[in-house]
Amino acid sequence: MCGIVGYVGKGRAADFLLDGLSKLEYRGYDSAGIAVYDGTNVHIEKSVGRLSALREKIADNMPEGSMGIGHTRWATHGRPSDRNAHPHSDCSGDFVVVHNGIIENYLSLKEELIEKGHNFQSETDTEVVAHLLEDVYNGDFLGSVREVLQRIEGSYSLVFMSKKNPGTLICTKQDNPLVIGLGEGENFIASDIPAIISKTRKTFIMADGEIAVVTQDSVNISNRRGEKIDKKIFEVSWNAEAAEKGGYEHFMLKEIHEQPKAVKDTMRERIIKDGSGIILNELNWDKDFLQSFNKIYIVACGTAYHAGLVGKYYIEKLARILVEVDLASEFRYRDPIIDEKTLLIVISQSGETSDTLAALKESKRRGAKTLAVTNVVGSSIAREAEWVLYTWAGPEIAVASTKAYTTQLILMFMLALYMAGILGTQEKERIAELVGELKKIPAQISETLSDVEPIKTFAKRYGFNEDVFYIGRSLDYSVALEGALKLKEVSYIHAEAYAAGELKHGTLALIVEGVPVIALATQRSVYEKTLSNIKEVKARDAVVIGIAAEGDEELIKYVDHVMYVPQTDELLIPLLTVVPLQLLAYYGAITRGCDVDKPRNLAKSVTVE
Ligand code: G6P
Repeated sequence: MCGIVGYVGKGRAADFLLDGLSKLEYRGYDSAGIAVYDGTNVHIEKSVGRLSALREKIADNMPEGSMGIGHTRWATHGRPSDRNAHPHSDCSGDFVVVHNGIIENYLSLKEELIEKGHNFQSETDTEVVAHLLEDVYNGDFLGSVREVLQRIEGSYSLVFMSKKNPGTLICTKQDNPLVIGLGEGENFIASDIPAIISKTRKTFIMADGEIAVVTQDSVNISNRRGEKIDKKIFEVSWNAEAAEKGGYEHFMLKEIHEQPKAVKDTMRERIIKDGSGIILNELNWDKDFLQSFNKIYIVACGTAYHAGLVGKYYIEKLARILVEVDLASEFRYRDPIIDEKTLLIVISQSGETSDTLAALKESKRRGAKTLAVTNVVGSSIAREAEWVLYTWAGPEIAVASTKAYTTQLILMFMLALYMAGILGTQEKERIAELVGELKKIPAQISETLSDVEPIKTFAKRYGFNEDVFYIGRSLDYSVALEGALKLKEVSYIHAEAYAAGELKHGTLALIVEGVPVIALATQRSVYEKTLSNIKEVKARDAVVIGIAAEGDEELIKYVDHVMYVPQTDELLIPLLTVVPLQLLAYYGAITRGCDVDKPRNLAKSVTVE
């Protein structure tokens, strides 16, 4: 994972490169670098640390020149350092390259090139690409790049620049994202759209194996066989501001507050006008099709996995089909039972998570039908799956996922209702009732967001604790998992979620005086049982913060504080209870002075195993 950019035009390349990289830091931020060609020489500037360190380093000495490439790194091969930062060049300094991904056969290539006398400067896999280009170069830039691509194995987005070919950049991709922005007398290359939307809305979304030759006035795209491709321009509909912070101190807070709109966008045009059910035009499934499955797998990572846990509950409860949920990194290596009677649903905000993509490809290979739930149009996962449902949450920049989670929940709920409608597993009245409740959710999230003061107070009071426990049963347990993950990710507090009924099998030993326990108690069928578990932790002098639906007058009798969310059907309440948990994590991190949008060691999009 990493972010890459390229510029060729009339302006100062360094300006776009630095600005573009600042929008891609969510892809990695342990070092950054740019290379600019000034008409005579290529100037490479790199720095370990955030992009701001690079900016500072070159502030008084900005490289001049109107062609360049840049990179923000998340280390895989070789620790974060100036030397390992991209761009990387060959021995002569004639060829420079930025790369996102992994060159799997780099060791054998490196040995071969060292034997031929090449001198390596870094520990990265990427550097072999520059030396290989130097080695095979025959005066034909594109032809030589093609030769390099035939030799390398792995995943990549790559941009090549050559002193011997002024005014031309070449870029290509395999399993990692890449877009080209089309300007007037200038063109842009980037890993992702936020890097270019302040410059242009006209883009080419590159597909695997495509190679683009980019000059200031032209973009020529061909496939692996060298055949020309007439690509359709993709017009970006987001506002430039949508990818910015929009007045909030952090992207995470902005994205938490965007949830009412985001979930409304997810629902848009998917609810039948009279409120009688859900219509998913993207699918057009029928009863025979749904009855041809004997199971569904939901496979995902991180927060998306937690959305999958809720999705399982929805599909089993409403459509009565067996669902198993798996972590993508486990699923792909456990030889799962997959055949043509399997429906695989992958959930991924970015659509680029390597493990999820691999699970999807493997399931497809074994005959499963595949559906992707993702946020990013044209992402690798969206292209790979047979069907795609977009969450339409807009760009999510903060590493900790918030609006992606709630929009995924909405989509899983609508999918389950859609299936139930086709299969007839729920009464028509029940479906209409749930659709009615669903429509209220955006306003109810807004209501939940309207009073953050108590949450700030809790965060200040408990922000310095070492451990926090989250408990709940049924859907409350799934939300507890997501709440604990949020707290860990951004505030570095040790947080664990437990099925409340499991406490007595071990975790209760950790509950001592003053330990905060966040107890979710919204599910009526297990309410009394949850109350008993709460009493168990209270008896060990834990500080218990309850989360309950308005109108619950019981819980406050047994806990220290209660945060109330509006009343809705208990299937939909995770969409509301997760909000105070997101805010608690956010304000907890603020209390501790953490870098909320860029938590240590983490990255937004994990495109490596
Ligand atoms: C990373 C992010 C998480 C995200 C997970 C899965 O770990 O930090 O926020 O949930 O990847 O990402 P995806 O894009 O597949 O949803």
